[in-house]
Amino acid sequence: MKYPRILAIDTSCDDTSVAVTQGMKVLSNIVASQTEIHRKYGGVMPLEAKLAHHEFIGPTYHEALKRAHIKSNQIDAVAVTYGPGLAIALEVGIAFAKDLSKELNVPLIGVNHMSGHLYSCLAVNSKGNTKPKVTIEGEFFPALALLISGGHSDIVLLPDLSTPTIVGATIDDAAGEALDKFARLLDLGYPGGAILETIAKEGNPDRFQFPLPMTQTHDFNLSFSGLKTSGRHKVEELEGTLDQQTIEDLAASFQKAVFRALLYKFKKAVEKFQPQSIWLGGGVSANLYLRKQMRDLCKQNNIKLIFPYTKKLSTDNAAMIGVAAYFQYLNKDFVFNFDEFQRKPRLNI
Ligand code: KG4
Ligand code: ZN
Repeated sequence: MKYPRILAIDTSCDDTSVAVTQGMKVLSNIVASQTEIHRKYGGVMPLEAKLAHHEFIGPTYHEALKRAHIKSNQIDAVAVTYGPGLAIALEVGIAFAKDLSKELNVPLIGVNHMSGHLYSCLAVNSKGNTKPKVTIEGEFFPALALLISGGHSDIVLLPDLSTPTIVGATIDDAAGEALDKFARLLDLGYPGGAILETIAKEGNPDRFQFPLPMTQTHDFNLSFSGLKTSGRHKVEELEGTLDQQTIEDLAASFQKAVFRALLYKFKKAVEKFQPQSIWLGGGVSANLYLRKQMRDLCKQNNIKLIFPYTKKLSTDNAAMIGVAAYFQYLNKDFVFNFDEFQRKPRLNI
């Protein structure tokens, strides 16, 4: 079978990304980061993001083709994220993708950004390898995925490859958002999750105690707004005594509390759904402290752990959109009415 070459685009937030994939294989994956632009504001400014996407998308597209060593006439389909994300940022990618699909006369595929994070686990590098080794045969299902990004915290059940269902989600803030806001309180910079991870390595995770939320509910939903508030109170309480050691201890303790809350509910879902494999996707899942805990959980329960072969596929990127689009391509799940195809900022899996 000839695997289709897909030109994939993601402009859902603050990274302009264009990739070329072929089946599950990543041929190129260019990410033009806007971190420097948004850093001075301490968070993503939608209008600035839109302007930067406009500026970056053309060059990023050409670079993606060049690195994949292909010409535009070798593309079999164009895929683009249409939600969830920032409305005015999504629009830039969608407009570009519609024009390109018309110009090249190839199908257009609309992809859910969170499906991208989910199927990023199946991406294969240019040598045909995944890490760890993955096959999408029956022995991997049912699978349970934890998708954790800046705006989402979803527990997703996959009875098979093509019917993912959310079984638990945050009722307020996302895990990434809680980490980012806490890092901001400590003046650590933006985006906070990765910086907090680095600083936490030096700290004592048991020095400060934070509450464990959602223990009274019997579902798999999550909540991080209470943790966020108690984090703020703790920092206010310690104002004036925030030396380097205290900051490191706070970072370690707060990170531990966020992952404890995630794991608490995720373990309950594991008990209930008895998955054969656990998949980890989204920017927060790049965190090594979390991965270690997941590894232990999988070892104890004899479950296979699957995450993308490189960290670049955990944070926002277009290759994951291309991999998700491949499965839609096989089902001929194309956009047939271009006028009706619009961004959906609050789209769910
Ligand atoms: O998936 P992603 O790149 O973008 C969204 O779809 O939101 O996720 C971004 C989130 C941010 O909250 C960022 O702080 C967090 O992922 N993040 C991390 C790490 N790297 C990125 N959180 C914890 N540890 C990391 N190493
Ligand atoms: Zn994302």
